[in-house]
Amino acid sequence: MIAQPLTVLDHHYQELRDDGEDVIKGLSKNPKTLSPKYFYDDHGSQLFEKICELPEYYPTRTEAWILQQYADEIATITNCCELIELGSGSSTKTQALLDAYQKIADSCRYLPIDVSGGILKTSVLQLQEKYPDIDIHGLLGTYEQALVHLESNYLQSRMLFFLGSSLGNFNPEECDIFLNQVSRTLQTGDYFLLGVDLQKPKDILEAAYNDSQGVTAAFNLNMLSHLNWRFQGDFDINLFKHQAIYNQVDNQIEMYLHCQKNHLVSLEALDLKVSFEEGESILTEISRKFDLATMEKQLQSKGLKTVKTWTDEKGWFGLILCQLK
Ligand code: AVJ
Repeated sequence: MIAQPLTVLDHHYQELRDDGEDVIKGLSKNPKTLSPKYFYDDHGSQLFEKICELPEYYPTRTEAWILQQYADEIATITNCCELIELGSGSSTKTQALLDAYQKIADSCRYLPIDVSGGILKTSVLQLQEKYPDIDIHGLLGTYEQALVHLESNYLQSRMLFFLGSSLGNFNPEECDIFLNQVSRTLQTGDYFLLGVDLQKPKDILEAAYNDSQGVTAAFNLNMLSHLNWRFQGDFDINLFKHQAIYNQVDNQIEMYLHCQKNHLVSLEALDLKVSFEEGESILTEISRKFDLATMEKQLQSKGLKTVKTWTDEKGWFGLILCQLK
């Protein structure tokens, strides 16, 4: 029997994934917001892959460098365990870890989890070919669905990992809830590997989110195209403009879509009508920039004790390996 590469994390996949409750909520707020998870339809995931290769977007290559340098050390510390990745995307950076774990164990298991079915399926098929000795199984769903699933399907010791500073998309309250969920899916002695983007000068940060080729702008605008197809909407993409600014008080990049003209939008599948005034904006993403010591304290407060931390030479990005006490 050929192993199925993907498991959909919800029986009521269509209904539940597409309920769009959070879209209604976010667009009814003042100022309007949308969840960054709506960036990642198949096209959005492709655009994100392009972002990762932009000269201005340093996080991906910096984290990849750290992983390449220290993957063997990480594998030596944790030993063989089930590798579970939240928001795996193309799993490109993960290959450094897979290479390292393949060296220390004859059999190993890797579960990539993502909301974007297209990229998940393609990467699982490629990885299965490249790593025949690793049992690779993709899980299609949101972080919340994944964490609930993982809590009740415990097989063996784990290392859960969350790379790329995706944690930065959560505000402090969401971050707290997320870390509670993470610690619930782990048992004593299990590991959590977290990649976080660190605080640095504003000009470097703003360049990373306002690239000269306009890929980030396309990525931001694609959220509206995604909502259009998914919820039968009629956003006029041409009326919106991308903006990314660094908020130095909250240490976070804020990405907005600014509406240039009065615009009435209907999302039929959600039975929702939203009006935009000229100049009005939607906050589509925050990307928080962290301080390692503060992050380690927060993890510690969830029972996640730092085992070791690595950074690059410039101290731009951090990788924290912690263990549930
Ligand atoms: C995938 C959430 C880590 O916040 O830097 C890239 C997404 N947004 N450019 C980030 C993103 C704009 C990215 N994360």
